[in-house]
Amino acid sequence: MRETHRSRAYRRHPLRPAVRAPSVHNSQPWRWHLGHDRLDLYADFGRQLTATDPRARALMVSCGAALHHLGTALAMLGRHATIHRLPDPTRPDHLATITCTPHTPTDLDRGLAAAITTRRSDRRRYPAPVPPADLRAITTPRRPLAEVLD
Ligand SMILES: Cc1cc2nc3c(=O)[nH]c(=O)nc-3n(C[C@H](O)[C@H](O)[C@H](O)COP(=O)(O)O)c2cc1C
Repeated sequence: MRETHRSRAYRRHPLRPAVRAPSVHNSQPWRWHLGHDRLDLYADFGRQLTATDPRARALMVSCGAALHHLGTALAMLGRHATIHRLPDPTRPDHLATITCTPHTPTDLDRGLAAAITTRRSDRRRYPAPVPPADLRAITTPRRPLAEVLD
């Protein structure tokens, strides 16, 4: 595939796409720690919207979206992200440790990466119910996320 300015952006830093993730009221309730051979994701409970999100569910979904974007960005850099969720039982804010192994980007990776750079929240009303086939298309590639949201 021809390299575009978008794929060059991914080459610069995997956290750049990760922080484009949607988050509840754009609160961006995550913190990243870049180590020598791993990345760590922390929830920033200081950014929790305690009135509307008292159980931090939306905060967690937001962090999950950021983690997903990071995985996609790493895939574009030729790295498969191995994600160890909640690695420290004594630190509930430590959501994930990410390490990498070599990976060849797939068409799915490329499609998801392109979506990260073009996606925007669209608050307009749906003109009609979302057709079941479209819902299936949205949820099929990353079914675990759909299961979390159920
Ligand atoms: C868990 C979660 C809950 C959200 N809830 C709402 C919502 O109730 N109403 C809304 O208009 N947008 C909602 N959003 C969208 C965010 O406001 C939006 O992602 C954020 O402002 C960043 O804008 P962007 O998606 O255009 O990058 C939500 C996003 C997430 C991840």
